Amino acid sequence: MSEEKNIDTSVEICGVKFRNPIITASGTFGFGKEYAEFYDINKLGGICTKGVTKERREGNPSPRIAETPMGMLNSVGLQNPGVDGFIREDVPFLEKLDCVVIANVAGRTEEDYCYAVEKISACKCVKMVELNISCPNVKAGGMAFGVLPESVEKITRAVKKHCAKPLMVKLSPNVANIADNARAAENGGADCLSLINTVGGMAINWRTRKPVLANVCGGLSGPAIKPIALKMVYETHKAVKIPIVGMGGITTADDIMEFMVAGAAAVQIGSANIFDPCAGINLVNELTNLMKRCNINNVRELTGTLSV
Ligand SMILES: Cc1cc2nc3c(=O)[nH]c(=O)nc-3n(C[C@H](O)[C@H](O)[C@H](O)COP(=O)(O)O)c2cc1C
Repeated sequence: MSEEKNIDTSVEICGVKFRNPIITASGTFGFGKEYAEFYDINKLGGICTKGVTKERREGNPSPRIAETPMGMLNSVGLQNPGVDGFIREDVPFLEKLDCVVIANVAGRTEEDYCYAVEKISACKCVKMVELNISCPNVKAGGMAFGVLPESVEKITRAVKKHCAKPLMVKLSPNVANIADNARAAENGGADCLSLINTVGGMAINWRTRKPVLANVCGGLSGPAIKPIALKMVYETHKAVKIPIVGMGGITTADDIMEFMVAGAAAVQIGSANIFDPCAGINLVNELTNLMKRCNINNVRELTGTLSV
C-alpha cells in the first residue's frame, strides 16, 4: 500500500502480497545490499536476486557489458556464490528485509535445478522462486530448457515438485512463439510467469574486426527491447490464466502502466538500476504521483485492460 491516502498500489500474486508492483529484476540488483546504501529498498514491492546455481560460478571473461543505442548488452554469465554461499552470505541480509524476496535460480541439468530450488525455496525469507530457463549468456545457463515448449513443460514439472514456494517461470523472448512456451510452463505447473529475459544480440568493433564482448554474443536489455516485451506480455496474457510479471526496458511510471494494461500484474525493473541506482525508488514515487494525476485509486484495476 502506498503511504498516500486513497492510492492503493498494492498487488497480490499467488497469495504473496507486494506493497507495490515494482520489483527489481534478476542480475541488475545483486542481492540488494549495495542498493540498500542508496535508498530504503523496503519501499520496493520486491527484489529478485541474481541467478543462483548449485555451484559457485565466476561468470564470463571481460568485457562483458557494452552500451548500445537505447540499451545495453551483457554477457555476465551466471556469476554467483552458489546455493551454499547464498545461504551463508546473503540470506542473513535478506531475512531482515520487509519487501518480497524472489530467488532466481538457474542450472546446468534438471538435477541441478531441482537441488538448488529445493534448498533455496526452504529459506524463510524467500517468498517466491523465479526459474531462469532463459539465460542466453552461458552454454549451460538454462537456455537449452527454455526454447522448445516440451522442454519448458518438462523442467517446470520437475522443479515444481521440489519448490516449497510459488514458482514463477521466466520466459525467453528468443523463441518461435511465446504463447506456446507460456502455455507449456502453465501446463507444467508454473504458478506465475515472468517475461522477458534479454534478447540475443551482439556488438562489433569493425576497426579491430573483433566483437566487443569477450563472449562474442550477449543479451540486449533496456528501452530498446520495450516494444518486443510489451507484445510478448500481451500475447502471453491472452494465452494463459496464471499471473504475469512483465519486464523489458521499463524506465518510467508510464512504462509500468503500459505493461500492466498489456496484462502484467506486476513489473520488474532491470537495466534502469544500472543506469541509475535510485531508479527503483524513483519509480515507486513516480507511480503514486501518476496514479494521483490520472485518478487511479487502485493499480490492480489496470491489469489486462487493453482494448484492441
Ligand atoms: C547485467 C544483467 C544481468 C542479468 N542477469 C540475469 C540473471 O542472472 N537471471 C535472469 O533471469 N535474468 C538476468 N538478466 C535479465 C533481466 O533480469 C531482465 O530480464 C532483462 O534485463 C530485461 O529487463 P530490462 O530491459 O529492464 O533490463 C540480467 C540482465 C542484465 C542487464
